[in-house]
Amino acid sequence: MCGIVAYIGGQNATPIIVNGLKKLEYRGYDSAGVAVLQNGKIEVRRDAGKIARLEALIAEQPLSGSIGIGHTRWATHGAPNQQNAHPHLSSNGEIVIVHNGIVENYLSLRDELLAEGAVFHSETDTETIVFLIERYFAVTQDLAKAVQLTMKRVKGAHGIVVMSAKEPDKLLAARLGNAGGVAIGRGNGEMFIASDLPAIVEHTREITFLENGQMAVVTRQGVSIQTLDGQKVPAQIQHIPWDPVSAEKGNYRHFMQKEIHEQVRSLSDTMIGRIDFDDYRITLPDLRLDAAGARGIKRIFITACGTALHAGLVGKIIIEHLTRIPVEVMVASEFRYIDPIVDSDTVVLAISQSGETADTLAAMEEGRRKGAKLWSIVNAIGSQAMRSADGAIAMQVGPEIGVASTKAFTAPLVDLYMLAVYLADLRGNINPAKRFELIRDLLMVPTLAGKTLEHEPEVEKAAAKYKDMRSVLYLGRGINMPIAYEGALKLKEISYIHAEGYPAGEMKHGPIALIDQDLPVVVIAPKDAWYEKMISQVEQAKARGGKVIAVATEGDALIPTLVDEVLWVPPVPWLLSPILTSIPLQLFAYHIATQLGLDVDQPRNLAKSVTVE
Ligand code: F6R
Repeated sequence: MCGIVAYIGGQNATPIIVNGLKKLEYRGYDSAGVAVLQNGKIEVRRDAGKIARLEALIAEQPLSGSIGIGHTRWATHGAPNQQNAHPHLSSNGEIVIVHNGIVENYLSLRDELLAEGAVFHSETDTETIVFLIERYFAVTQDLAKAVQLTMKRVKGAHGIVVMSAKEPDKLLAARLGNAGGVAIGRGNGEMFIASDLPAIVEHTREITFLENGQMAVVTRQGVSIQTLDGQKVPAQIQHIPWDPVSAEKGNYRHFMQKEIHEQVRSLSDTMIGRIDFDDYRITLPDLRLDAAGARGIKRIFITACGTALHAGLVGKIIIEHLTRIPVEVMVASEFRYIDPIVDSDTVVLAISQSGETADTLAAMEEGRRKGAKLWSIVNAIGSQAMRSADGAIAMQVGPEIGVASTKAFTAPLVDLYMLAVYLADLRGNINPAKRFELIRDLLMVPTLAGKTLEHEPEVEKAAAKYKDMRSVLYLGRGINMPIAYEGALKLKEISYIHAEGYPAGEMKHGPIALIDQDLPVVVIAPKDAWYEKMISQVEQAKARGGKVIAVATEGDALIPTLVDEVLWVPPVPWLLSPILTSIPLQLFAYHIATQLGLDVDQPRNLAKSVTVE
């Protein structure tokens, strides 16, 4: 949930940037900082804690200049402290950067820079970027070229803004992948940059959004855009109407589309503060659990509704696999009516985006009545499901506005994975090497989600072909079986097309009777332990004239020869694969619904928070 704000113009940059950062406070952060070019020298003020602390610091040591950059940080690499807060300076103090994203190859870049004599002042991955820019600037004497060369070296998804005392009349902004947006606002002899529009819409509504792989050179007079290969691109200016809702929606057509794309960021946001990078451990302090408590858990009941329930079904497989604690998943609306076997050694774990779903709250009450420990995974901070639990994991993904849940589906998948690793660690089910491997795999997921989103144009084309279908069958197996349920739910709720999710092995026990050329089948068939079985499912559907759309792993040469359409996802370890396989199905449902001209953000008969039984 890091935020970026930058300014170049005729006014004092400091208050403009600090006020912009305040507008992003709702996203959450743990430290903040500003850098301004003051009398030809870059001056930085930054600290852990709230923006009020930064303001106090600036009051003690005033900061004034007409060009500057600012940042609110949520710690990933390194604790939330003054040293790790952004902006980060180059070693010679002439270049300064603010950064959103995670440098995936930061360990190797750090080693390379250390070997050249670099001295790191923080534990952040961001310092590697500014040191690389410094190194390339020394050779090229051209800041834009140095940024381009650097962005070719860093892996992962990033948004950055760079300022240099050597080229004092410009700011450089670049975007690689989907680590949140970079919006550039035009004023009169002044320009504004922000990761999120609310930070700058009070100053300007003429906005250019940087696309993936683009860099902007921003001067007082305007902006010029080029690719990271140096090809000039015309700057498209969009007029943003002045209301907070449109400002929040940015350049997306719907909140649902925005929230699908936000997943790159929300997937890392939900990890923030939970990974101890010193010894690669998960920490979930808000669960208030110790090793004895973890060992005492005899059974977990996951309870939830709708999409949250599907997340729970995936969670069951992950938790059982890593901890061997038996996990049952129960529809919340049934929980209190079937006398479940729950006692004081049981944890009832509720999953809820809103934290106010009546059925889920009632299931929690029933768990409490039976003496269970209550945990919740909730997005809405302060909601009932969070307040009434003994321990909670906040999703930390910001408000979800689209009625169809997307980022609040994938975030709890990460939370459940972290919970499983945490429990397994506390109970001694995994050794440090396995823990390292599991966390390393997890850290790759936001970038892989970004790569999955890059296939959106193909998904949109597939949606155009299938938008007039009347009914669809979704099939999945193993850890992706719940994704068949979720894919079908997404389609039916926003497109009003009938869709059913089924465990693939059940097809032959009934639904196979439905298959003909008018009933497309969506199979979720990544390269995993269930792949061969899914292929035979594909063949059975094809043999009956069915059209098959497959979610498959990039590099799979067989599947395109068997099916009518492939929606690709990058390779990923199996425990994490549902996070990726759900994304093309969200996009598929979204594009079908928009092509049918439907209101995807507020589908008929549905409410964002269902507070009735
Ligand atoms: C579907 C959807 C619903 C919710 C369900 C539970 O896209 O959003 O199925 O998942 O109503 O809501 P929460 O998570 O708020 O308890």
